[in-house]
Amino acid sequence: MNQDKLKLAAARAALDYIPQDAIVGVGTGSTVNFFIQELAGIKSRIEGAVSSSETSSNRLKAIGIPVYDLNAVSDLPVYVDGADEITPHLAMIKGGGGALTREKIVAAVARQFVCIADEKKRVPVLGNFPLPLEVIPMARSYVAREVVRLGGQPVLREGFITDNGNVILDVHHLNLQDPVEMETRLSCITGVVTCGIFARRPADVLILSTLQGIQISTR
Ligand code: A5P
Repeated sequence: MNQDKLKLAAARAALDYIPQDAIVGVGTGSTVNFFIQELAGIKSRIEGAVSSSETSSNRLKAIGIPVYDLNAVSDLPVYVDGADEITPHLAMIKGGGGALTREKIVAAVARQFVCIADEKKRVPVLGNFPLPLEVIPMARSYVAREVVRLGGQPVLREGFITDNGNVILDVHHLNLQDPVEMETRLSCITGVVTCGIFARRPADVLILSTLQGIQISTR
């Protein structure tokens, strides 16, 4: 089975977590694109969506799902999104697609975070995937120096500007044995908008698509 089939299976399994008449939080990325495709089939059963990126919003609107401003939504029962890496404790690295800030905001609002991933994303410890940091452009060099002091090797994502008008530093070789602590330290650097570690607010449910079938983990 190829990776796209695994992603589709995870996306399809996430439909079980969508309550009737709900506004659904929708993330960003290739796995979520399959989820959006699956949502099309149940769109009459949901009220609409909030989304973590312009790309996902456009895809949702294209299939006729209303997209709400998060500020207009007081209750978000579920947020479905992918991950670049996820541990057995459901801590994640996110932001490979650059949407980490809006992803973290929607995740903060949601009562339940359902992560959909194929088995390649499962890791014992975070850190093989370069850690994305969204950074205010004028702070780029300062943040890079601070990251080096923490043991990381930052690389500017060339030619990429986030939906919020900022830049991304992809940080290699950081020690993420304690992801909560590193998330806190990186988030405190002035000029960092968002750190791509999702450990203080991890996923609540992991739908992992494997060659043996779907595996569900909860926190
Ligand atoms: C987007 O910024 C990311 O956080 C994605 O959720 C993550 O990179 C997973 O993307 P794929 O499903 O494309 O692997």
